[in-house]
Amino acid sequence: MAYLQTDVTKVTTRVLQNMKVHGEKIAMLTAYDYSMAAILNRTKIDVILVGDSAANVMEGYKTTLPITLDEMIVYASSVVRAVSRALVVVDMPFGTYQGNSKQALASAIRIMKETGADAIKLEGGEEVLESIQRILTAGIPVMGHLGLTPQSINKFGTYAVRATEEEEANRIIHDAHILEEVGCFAMVIEKVPAALAGRIASEVKIPIIGIGAGSQVDGQVLVLQDMLGITQQFKPRYLRTYGNIGDDITNAVQQYITDVKSVDFPNTREQY
Ligand code: KIV
Repeated sequence: MAYLQTDVTKVTTRVLQNMKVHGEKIAMLTAYDYSMAAILNRTKIDVILVGDSAANVMEGYKTTLPITLDEMIVYASSVVRAVSRALVVVDMPFGTYQGNSKQALASAIRIMKETGADAIKLEGGEEVLESIQRILTAGIPVMGHLGLTPQSINKFGTYAVRATEEEEANRIIHDAHILEEVGCFAMVIEKVPAALAGRIASEVKIPIIGIGAGSQVDGQVLVLQDMLGITQQFKPRYLRTYGNIGDDITNAVQQYITDVKSVDFPNTREQY
C-alpha cells in the first residue's frame, strides 16, 4: 500500500488520526538521548516515545518506578533537540500524576515547558481519569497506556501477559472507551491477547499502538535498545530484533583495545 503520510514534515496527533482512518500503520520507537534520537530522525519513524523504560535501559533499575520527573525531563529535552519530524511523546513517571490531578497538571506542564515535547503518556484507565481531564484542559495531548502497565508491577506481581481472563479483558475494553471519550489522542496497549487488542482497535476511533498485542492494531512500539539487540537477556515472545548492535559494540571495543595495546592505533596518518 502507499504510505499516505510519509511526506509530512511534522507528525502531529492529527496525522496519526489520519493514518488510522486510512489504515496506514504507525511506527513508534523509544529514545532517551540525543545521539540515538538523531539517528531515528534520519528515518521516517512516526512517533518517538521517551519512555520511563529509561529507568531500565538507561539507569539499570529492575522496574520503572524509581525514575524521577527531573530525569525524564533531561532525557526528553535531549531527544527533542535531535528530532524534527516525529511526534515526541514523554512518559509521566510513577508518582507524578496518580491520585492528584493538580500535581498531574503541574508535572505535565513541566514536561511540555522544559522539554519542548509534543505530548505526554500516562498509564491507567478510569482510576486516572481526573488527572487526564485536568491535563487536557491545558491543551496538552495525552496518550493512554492500558494492559500491562509496568508502573503497577507491584500490584500485578508479574510481567506475564494480561487480560487472559474475561473480567480483566472487559475492564480494559471499558477503560479504552473511557480514554477515547475523555479525549486521549491515542493509546498504547501492552501485552494482551491479539484478539482483545484487535477488538479495541476496531471499537475505538483513536489509534491503538500495540506492544505484544498482535497485528490487528493501528501501530507498533518497541524499546529501541531491545529491537537493536543492545539489551541482553530480554527476549519476550513479541520482540523481533533488527540488529546485533550489542555484539557490534563489543567487537568494536575489543578491536580498539587490541589496536591500542599493539600500538597499531594511532598510526602515522592519525597523528599530528
Ligand atoms: O516506557 C516505555 O518504553 C513504554 C513502552 C514499552 C510502550 O511505555
